[in-house]
Amino acid sequence: MTLSAEQIQANWIEFNTNIETFITGDRKQKLLDFYSKFEDRIILMPAANNKKYHSAFPGGYVDHVNRVVKAALSMSAVWEGFGCDMTTFTQEELVFSAINHDLGKMGSDTEDAYITQTDNWRRDKMGETYAFNTSLPFASVPDRGLFLLQQHDIKYTFNEMVAIQTHDGLYDAANEKYLKSFMPETKPRSSLLFILHQADMMAARIEFEIEWLPKFSKDSVATPKKNYTLPSNQKGNSKQKALNTVASVGLKNMLDSL
Ligand SMILES: [Fe+2]
Repeated sequence: MTLSAEQIQANWIEFNTNIETFITGDRKQKLLDFYSKFEDRIILMPAANNKKYHSAFPGGYVDHVNRVVKAALSMSAVWEGFGCDMTTFTQEELVFSAINHDLGKMGSDTEDAYITQTDNWRRDKMGETYAFNTSLPFASVPDRGLFLLQQHDIKYTFNEMVAIQTHDGLYDAANEKYLKSFMPETKPRSSLLFILHQADMMAARIEFEIEWLPKFSKDSVATPKKNYTLPSNQKGNSKQKALNTVASVGLKNMLDSL
């Protein structure tokens, strides 16, 4: 899948508008400065390295993040409608977490995490549009994102830290300590992390549908033959001859109706 230059540009404007609209205090300018500094890298980043994941194409990252921000705001309204205690987090915390939840995919301040895959076989057969940059030491996406924020003196709240850390929900076993607690005292005290996880999952699923479902449509699959009756110009009535060898009357009627 590809995005047009106009779409990539529009997505970048929407990305920055979300910061302008929802983030307050001195971290608003710090966040705008951070994303301005790394604009050339982030604007064309994919959201994943492989086609089997979502949005693994230039501009896919910002496209995904903007969708997660929208989804998080909508999902928050759904939770509120069902009686969620909305005093346990703020709208700014929700949007800040959504904007920065996948920041770690960027890599470090000097190195991209995803670089062009130069192995043609891996690109064509394995769907690896990008390769991991092995010059980067390993870190999980949430850890790397939180490190980048603190490295650039962008403060985040406790709620934002936990939400960014656990945005993959139980798809990441490391989150079990937050999400599989059976003791009331150690359960999360805010629904923010569940709302962000649902928004992220919904956005990724919809990105899969946009990219892949048209490829699985009826038109893209060869239509199977409806029946196997031999052409009538062959000697004798072959179909009738074949049917005469079938012992079951029911099966014969069924085959005859094909
Ligand atoms: Fe995400």
